[in-house]
Amino acid sequence: MDAANEPGEGAARGALRVTALSASGFRNLAPLQLSPGPRFNVIHGDNGQGKSNLLEALYYLAALRSFRGAGNRDLIAEGAEQAQLRARISGPAAPHQHQLLLRRNGGRLLQLDGKRPRSLSAYYAALQMVIFHPGDMHMVSGPPELRRGYLDRILEQFDATFAATAQAYQKALRSRNRLLRAPSPNRGAIAAYDELLASAGAVIGQCRLRLLSEMAQGVVEAFRSVSGEGLSLSLRYAARVEPEVAALRAALSEQLPRDLARGYTGDGPHADDLVFELGRSAAKHYGSQGQHRAIVLALKVAELHELERRVGRVPILLLDDVSSELDRGRNQRLFSLLSELGGQVFLTTTHPEHIQLSHDRVDYRVQAGVVELKADQGRDRGPISG
Ligand SMILES: Nc1ncnc2c1ncn2[C@@H]1O[C@H](COP(=O)(O)OP(=O)(O)OP(=O)(O)O)[C@@H](O)[C@H]1O
Ligand SMILES: [Mg+2]
Repeated sequence: MDAANEPGEGAARGALRVTALSASGFRNLAPLQLSPGPRFNVIHGDNGQGKSNLLEALYYLAALRSFRGAGNRDLIAEGAEQAQLRARISGPAAPHQHQLLLRRNGGRLLQLDGKRPRSLSAYYAALQMVIFHPGDMHMVSGPPELRRGYLDRILEQFDATFAATAQAYQKALRSRNRLLRAPSPNRGAIAAYDELLASAGAVIGQCRLRLLSEMAQGVVEAFRSVSGEGLSLSLRYAARVEPEVAALRAALSEQLPRDLARGYTGDGPHADDLVFELGRSAAKHYGSQGQHRAIVLALKVAELHELERRVGRVPILLLDDVSSELDRGRNQRLFSLLSELGGQVFLTTTHPEHIQLSHDRVDYRVQAGVVELKADQGRDRGPISG
């Protein structure tokens, strides 16, 4: 075991940690074997070298999907038939071994501790990660579906029933919309979907509201810590219709003429939004780039706390290119906040000097897909020798 594996000062006892990672055939990464540090792992390199690919490999092990929305074909290295990822995760419970094989034909083989997991929920339950990546920047300024999707992904992780309800809702919504657009719409057939949409819709809206009420305070405080501004952030769930079965049922029935005219269902949780306000103005239109970044970071910090509360251990935090667009003061405040969180963090940067962390830090350099521990820090090497 190298020094990087000894929990450093300040390492939380209840934190999940990747203690070993190996990857082959993944994106542009040369076959690698790493023993990450227990706290901050700083991954630096120029543009296009493979920094985000390394975070993507880590995230895939937890979420079984790419945070960039890539399919298996994109994830497997050009010219390779399969990609393999393996990680040892330590935490308050016994360590777990995660193993994944992605095949070019779309096949995927999952193993948890050398066996096929009982269910996907059992796999997800073993490892939680929170990711911040540049695409998240659209979360404040982009369309509402990004914000709804963000809340739903968190809920799905813990609640297989929520995931099934959300799926049933989407399916019914698609069917109802199809009928609304038919040349001579059948009102009876359309209304037949209303009951399911009202009951599933109420569950979805209420789950989102509850999650948000649990996270809101944490978001507001984290925003204050990172931005250091007097301007206060507030957030609220903007429901088009109150998430109650009776209210949704009534809206669907009353708005049928409008829905028929437009060709889609206007009311329900698929039309709700999460609104951020800075002072009294909508952050979407009012906030600066740096403020949007601070809002998203605050959300992720609150998400981390929420997952910690629900599973009883600190998830692993992945930060892709977090420091750009934050000025020196905000960077400093961000890193002091991250130091307090106590979990394991992987972060990428083109400018390691922006990462204002003086201890508990292991530095890696990525160049043309080869990941190397910085020379003075130990034995990890990119390519597996021999
Ligand atoms: N399936 C693949 N096989 C081989 N190479 C790939 C594959 N997918 C992506 N790449 C290459 O991986 C390279 C690195 O991508 P990555 O997104 O990790 O860069 P990065 O270091 O994060 O850069 P930046 O600082 O610009 O964000 C790109 O040059 C891309 O062409
Ligand atoms: Mg990148």
